[in-house]
Amino acid sequence: MSPAASTVTVIGGGTMGRGIAVASLVRTPAAVWLVETADGLREELARGIAADAEARGAHGAGSRLSVVGSLAETPEAELIVEAVPEIPELKHRVLREAEGRLAAGGILASNTSSLSIASLAAALERPGRFLGMHFFQPVPDTVLTELILHDGVDGQAVEAAERWTAALGREAITARDVPGFATSRLGLAIGLEAIRMLEEGVASAEDIDRGMRLGYQHAVGPLRMTDMVGLDVRLAIAEYLAEHLGPRFEPPQLMRDMVAAGRLGRKSGRGFFDWAE
Ligand SMILES: NC(=O)c1ccc[n+]([C@@H]2O[C@H](COP(=O)([O-])OP(=O)(O)OC[C@H]3O[C@@H](n4cnc5c(N)ncnc54)[C@H](O)[C@@H]3O)[C@@H](O)[C@H]2O)c1
Repeated sequence: MSPAASTVTVIGGGTMGRGIAVASLVRTPAAVWLVETADGLREELARGIAADAEARGAHGAGSRLSVVGSLAETPEAELIVEAVPEIPELKHRVLREAEGRLAAGGILASNTSSLSIASLAAALERPGRFLGMHFFQPVPDTVLTELILHDGVDGQAVEAAERWTAALGREAITARDVPGFATSRLGLAIGLEAIRMLEEGVASAEDIDRGMRLGYQHAVGPLRMTDMVGLDVRLAIAEYLAEHLGPRFEPPQLMRDMVAAGRLGRKSGRGFFDWAE
């Protein structure tokens, strides 16, 4: 299915869903529907996403964007990307409902950072059309999409996911369906170790990050990246990986304390760094 004259539905208008909607408007001619259940967010999302997409050259993007409060309001779509919080029961419920909105030949994808794709697929009636499409943020400025394949996925669904990845201007890597896949596992390991080093007073947050940027050529330091992803998001991933891959992913106490105190990183204005501006 070509992205021309097609529909992309994104579920969840947080850090990732917002970026996926912008990238879809900028890179494809598709009509884009965003489902966000938080009442207070939808107006700002519609305005902000359209403005961002237009600033990136998608003229008239606002006319192709609809932000609604439920999946029942959306038309059938050729690509549906789920980007709700990393809570298995929530994802199961949302994916089951989303399956009913798929157009013929369409694919359903989860943007989960770590959860087993096979276990999410198990809740579906047509698991062959479902796979993991893991985006990176900021979505419109990054080029990678990690495709995660479970044993029951159809070859045609994989081909469709590859076509959509290319249409969105992205490059794909393919990973086996193991918790944390190929990217989150490694990215998180570095982030957790950086937090433990901060806890132990090895160096300041700024210097830990500068060390990795200047010494190891990382584009963004591990603590700033944790702030950008969201400490709450990374905590949920760490807990899941600790349960499935072992105690090396056990979240540091500092991370738990910061999440409990609402210091979630960029989205709350403060994490390891000050994001108030
Ligand atoms: N933050 C990152 O850098 C990052 C990167 C890759 C993947 N992910 C994954 O993407 C997913 C979303 O992460 P995020 O950082 O965007 O989370 P977020 O908390 O910023 O946003 C989630 C949004 O989903 C909305 N929501 C909750 N229930 C909903 C429902 N039933 N229907 C529609 N909307 C609903 C919430 O109101 C919120 O706006 C998670 O699975 C996460 O692991 C995150």
